[in-house]
Amino acid sequence: MTMAFRVRNPDLRFLILLSLLSITSAKVFFEERFDDGWGNRWVKSDWKKDENLAGEWNHTSGQWNGDANDKGIQTSEDYRFYAISAQYPEFSNKDKTLVFQFSVKHEQKLDCGGGYMKLLSGDVDQKKFGGDTPYSIMFGPDICGYSTKKVHAILTYNDTNHLIKKDVPCETDQLTHVYTFILRPDATYSILIDNVEKQTGSLYSDWDLLPPKTIKDPEAKKPEDWDDKEFIPDPEDKKPEGYDDIPKELPDPEAKKPEDWDDEEDGEWTPPTIANPDYKGPWKAKKIKNPNYKGKWKAPLIDNPDFKDDPDLYVFPNLKYVGIELWQVKSGTLFDNVLITDDPEYAKQLAEETWGKHKDVSFFYSLIFFGLRYAIERYDLLNEIVFLQVEKTAFEEAEKKREEEESKDDPVDSDADEEEEDADEAGNDSDAESKTEAGEDTKEEGVHDEL
Ligand SMILES: *[C@@H]1O[C@H](CO)[C@@H](O)[C@H](O)[C@H]1NC(C)=O
Ligand SMILES: *[C@@H]1O[C@H](CO)[C@@H](O)[C@H](O)[C@H]1NC(C)=O
Ligand SMILES: *[C@@H]1O[C@H](CO)[C@@H](O)[C@H](O)[C@H]1NC(C)=O
Repeated sequence: MTMAFRVRNPDLRFLILLSLLSITSAKVFFEERFDDGWGNRWVKSDWKKDENLAGEWNHTSGQWNGDANDKGIQTSEDYRFYAISAQYPEFSNKDKTLVFQFSVKHEQKLDCGGGYMKLLSGDVDQKKFGGDTPYSIMFGPDICGYSTKKVHAILTYNDTNHLIKKDVPCETDQLTHVYTFILRPDATYSILIDNVEKQTGSLYSDWDLLPPKTIKDPEAKKPEDWDDKEFIPDPEDKKPEGYDDIPKELPDPEAKKPEDWDDEEDGEWTPPTIANPDYKGPWKAKKIKNPNYKGKWKAPLIDNPDFKDDPDLYVFPNLKYVGIELWQVKSGTLFDNVLITDDPEYAKQLAEETWGKHKDVSFFYSLIFFGLRYAIERYDLLNEIVFLQVEKTAFEEAEKKREEEESKDDPVDSDADEEEEDADEAGNDSDAESKTEAGEDTKEEGVHDEL
């Protein structure tokens, strides 16, 4: 656990010093920046090892980043299970705010896989930690295909996992994002992404942890005289005289008796009938609003006899471990800056100081940055000068290089690729995006080498 801020920017350092003064009361239960030595704090589980399906973690800052020295742990093998956990001194969040925060970056353009973490309670055999290990809280992004792109917030209550009932969309790009879950003693919660609140509410309404407080009275019956007809026939409306005499059908005026009709032999000729356009069916009074309408009857709500409030609904009395347990089709998810604290302000500062510092260039810095870049490119100093690196810019450069590589490579290996492609991946061979997995990997290697 480190409380030290690694700050290289003088004005940021001043700001953080200032804010440190106001956050000295923060209690940090766990904080992991994945500096060297992280391997002593985290235990890799043997789960799925004997089936050769346990994936390896890579201690890295990734292919693009805002600070090459700021490493996290990244899933590094496709089609693998990942399970790793760390222990901290057991605590209860009773009467405290609980903040659980971490950053995650899906460098692999995740199409199906999780990026969530778990808090576990009690005693867990970390070597056996896996998909079946009971947990207390599971929180973070989950992506699968087009339909699942959400932030999970699962709370375990009375040995049952309860999913949040509200939809919280997650980030889907290939950059770092900070996910924060805040649980307060008044049984309210907030979910933040990149320090912006995306969802908030109450444990009572947004999860089905307890039976509902009120139910429809099963004894109640609709009163006999309850008038629930919204419209009634107008008593003033009268049937016009002669209405019932209008025939339904008329003899067809166009019809003519056939030339060869013989009344003696064929009987008297009668013309065929047609529908009478004046006939409007049986008379009905027009409808008017019912002055006695009382609305649809609803059973009154009564207190649910099965509801028993639990003032400790938000309490997890023996939190002790934090873990990552995932299945990944395509690897490349990088976790960093895991934090468990009682202070949302401290968490916010940490996010700003890590993700916030590297995510993007402020306008001021971008002027300097692009000025420098122009000078460097102009004078061809690119390989000699190392300048301010920013994750987003690094990512865009990596993407640009990748696209260039691909358009260079494509005409050469497109024929070979095409035969190997699955039916659903088969594409247009002039399309720069289409490539086999193998082709893509070698191109990506090329990109790291150049970075
Ligand atoms: C670890 O990540 C770095 C940066 O993306 C990459 O160059 C390296 O090949 C990775 N190592 C493994 C074993 O995946
Ligand atoms: C806990 O779960 C059991 C079994 O599902 C159930 O019978 C019981 O009512 C639950 N208790 C509460 C407080 O929800
Ligand atoms: C392939 O792509 C080219 C250029 O993008 C386009 O003109 C052509 O119609 C595409 N062919 C197929 C089969 O999609």
